[in-house]
Amino acid sequence: MPLLDDIEPLKLNAIAELTAAPDLAALEQTKGAWLGASGRFTALMKQLGTLSKEEKPAAGKLINLAKVEIESALASRREQLELAAALPAEPTDFTLPGRRRPLGKLHPLTQVTEDIVRAFRKLGFAVAEGPDIEDEYHCFDALNTPADHPARDAQDTFYVSPVPGGADGRSSLLRTHTSSVQIRVMKSQPPPVRILVPGRVYRRDNADATHNPTFHQIEGLYVDRNVTVGDLKGTVEFVFKELMGSDVKIRFRPHYFSYTEPSFEIDFTSALVKKMGKDWLEIAGCGMVHPQVFENVGYDPEVWSGWAFGFGIERIAMLRYGINDIRLFYENDGRFLKQF
Ligand code: DAH
Repeated sequence: MPLLDDIEPLKLNAIAELTAAPDLAALEQTKGAWLGASGRFTALMKQLGTLSKEEKPAAGKLINLAKVEIESALASRREQLELAAALPAEPTDFTLPGRRRPLGKLHPLTQVTEDIVRAFRKLGFAVAEGPDIEDEYHCFDALNTPADHPARDAQDTFYVSPVPGGADGRSSLLRTHTSSVQIRVMKSQPPPVRILVPGRVYRRDNADATHNPTFHQIEGLYVDRNVTVGDLKGTVEFVFKELMGSDVKIRFRPHYFSYTEPSFEIDFTSALVKKMGKDWLEIAGCGMVHPQVFENVGYDPEVWSGWAFGFGIERIAMLRYGINDIRLFYENDGRFLKQF
């Protein structure tokens, strides 16, 4: 039967042409040429009518099977071409460098803090932390600060609860200095100690160009056998030179802190300070840890000695960058922050 013999070659032909279609438009065209109203395979199906009643079923079955195969070849080629059309024309080079997004920067106070920490790390100091909401014991009593000391007055310190001078020294307050962390660390570990404590502190100061009710300090504490004022001075000098340049000079002036004896204030000078029209700038407090403080934390003052210091981070940042208003640090003005 000639019709039956035509089915297989026509089918193979159709499948070959569909599979070779180079793009979606060509595929649609090929589909029309075979399966469209006047397509070649459609013409074959139309011939079915010319067959005898006996021949029809077998021929009809063959034609339908062939049509299913052609349609599946069409569908799979269409899928291939659609996928190819969705991909970029040029292959992607995954080894190219990425586009840089502006990721923001660290706040200048964070940058200065990190620089200070980095300098002290070289000397073997580790960072320690303590709570912002402290109690009178850690902030004052254990630091040998008498109950009637003016710093403890509610005029100077933010008390949270209850009232200042609570019976057990446990009234909550916002820590007025990071020195409270000295006590927490010494109570939690035996000597030797070499720590650095960056953190926020709070005082009842009204905001002006150089004061703010909250600012940041960095506290240092070094406890070991035979520690001297010479160690303290050498360390402070090393760190300030790392931080502000090698032309830096420091000097110690006698001072009073209840938790150190002797106590000093550290003055600082450099070309920058001279430029500001000053000879020296007061930059930090320090001293040799008071024997009573050692007693309070359970260290034997006959065996252990040490020094401590505390300075304001804003102060140093202002000096370093020539900033004359402390409030700029807290306003989060992008025009200011972008400069660091
Ligand atoms: N706590 C002092 C302040 O807030 C700074 C200070 C002075 C810290 C002497 C110390 C120190 O550790 O030994 O002004």
